[in-house]
Amino acid sequence: MAPSLGAPLFSGADADLYAVGADRVLRRSRSGADTVGTAEVMRHVRAAGFPAPRVDAATDGDLTMELLRGPTLLQSILGGRTSLAGSARILVALHDALHAVPPPAPDEPAYEALTAPSFATLDAPGAGAPCVLHLDLHPANVVLTADGPAVLHWTNARLGPAGLDLAVTAVVLAEVAADEDDELAPGARVLLDAFLHLADPVLLRHLDAAARTRAADPGLDPSEVALVPAAVALVAREARRS
Ligand SMILES: Nc1ncnc2c1ncn2[C@@H]1O[C@H](COP(=O)(O)OP(=O)(O)O)[C@@H](O)[C@H]1O
Ligand SMILES: [Mg+2]
Repeated sequence: MAPSLGAPLFSGADADLYAVGADRVLRRSRSGADTVGTAEVMRHVRAAGFPAPRVDAATDGDLTMELLRGPTLLQSILGGRTSLAGSARILVALHDALHAVPPPAPDEPAYEALTAPSFATLDAPGAGAPCVLHLDLHPANVVLTADGPAVLHWTNARLGPAGLDLAVTAVVLAEVAADEDDELAPGARVLLDAFLHLADPVLLRHLDAAARTRAADPGLDPSEVALVPAAVALVAREARRS
């Protein structure tokens, strides 16, 4: 453990992020998530060419990785620098690229983490070959770097059907859109519609599993979980229109 980390650069639902020198960050999970396994998943997708941060070290609870420079996609949307239609294209392209990554063989290090017990509902009979899913791919987990968009926050990643990953993203966007108290709701609705227009409609077959996955996510507080049913109804309604 680093002797003096100073104040966190960011504090999120599960993790505190600390600067390590000028170009690395240490992500410390407060829930004691399996950072060693998460690091193997990040190395696996990165070795296949997918844009995940380079991992330098992982111990129990701490993960040290490269600092990605650039705004998150959420920050870029809020700053008016990325359009909602462009954001939907980025999200769908990242899903497509991730789901094209060959899954690890059972004897590879990432396999154990990607098949570990999860709060996610991963069973989908007849859903095709399993692939690597991120299961939290939303605009605050994407950084727009000079080399293109890159994806953070790999703790939820598991093997499963691609449509489930798309469905989880749709439900996350719809949770914001369905929240009457959230000033981001109108924009989230537009982004959801653009995402549904571009994403493989197979995601609709995974809406129930996505709803159960979101409701079981330990990173959500009860008020967020309460939005899930309205979010799922919104996705189903908007998908019929698109
Ligand atoms: N490698 C990184 N480079 C740059 N920023 C990062 C990096 N990892 C995390 N962040 C920032 O910290 C925030 C939270 O990190 P994240 O891993 O998503 O955990 P959580 O959502 O639980 O807080 C991100 O939205 C991003 O702004
Ligand atoms: Mg995050």
